[in-house]
Amino acid sequence: MAKRSAKRQEQRRTLRRQKRLIAAAALGVAALLAVGLLAYRAMSGGSGDGVTVEVIVPAELSAEAQAGAALFQANCRACHGPNASGTKLGPPLIHEIYNPGHHSDDAFYLAAATGVRAHHWPYGDMPAQPQVTREDVGLIIRFVRELQEANGIEYERYGG
Ligand code: HEC
Repeated sequence: MAKRSAKRQEQRRTLRRQKRLIAAAALGVAALLAVGLLAYRAMSGGSGDGVTVEVIVPAELSAEAQAGAALFQANCRACHGPNASGTKLGPPLIHEIYNPGHHSDDAFYLAAATGVRAHHWPYGDMPAQPQVTREDVGLIIRFVRELQEANGIEYERYGG
């Protein structure tokens, strides 16, 4: 009887030791994953919070730009931020990259109609915005271009 319970005790102790080992291993794996994630984020060039810029909003926007602003808030703001200043979901459009020499108005029409494959940023693809008409996009472009101008983003010929 005594012998048997000693054996059982030994089994229990072994089991406890195994559980502790598994817990330690799990902790190790979690720590490695955390370090890996941090390294990945550092390498992909962002803290994961996206790029945002300060945007000066001119006191005087044209009537078209004002209409475009309302459409922008309703359809683009969620990712591009209020005044196209960027969020963690999408880039600022008030940015050198989007000067009219590098991204013409056609780039805007195309982005809204067909979406954008991620190529400049680590955010991922932009989905198409079929609820926005071509006319709407024209007004949104007026808004973005007037903001760009007020923030010193000027036409620069792409590649030359
Ligand atoms: C669900 C998020 C999301 C919404 C909503 C969104 N965008 Fe985007 N947009 C993105 C992302 C992300 C990119 C960057 C893709 C890249 O270049 O890596 C982008 C890129 C763009 C570009 C650059 C296109 C190019 O050729 O590089 C334009 C222009 C643009 N968006 C306009 C708009 C307009 C106008 C709206 C509203 C009608 C809008 N976006 C709504 C996420 C969004």
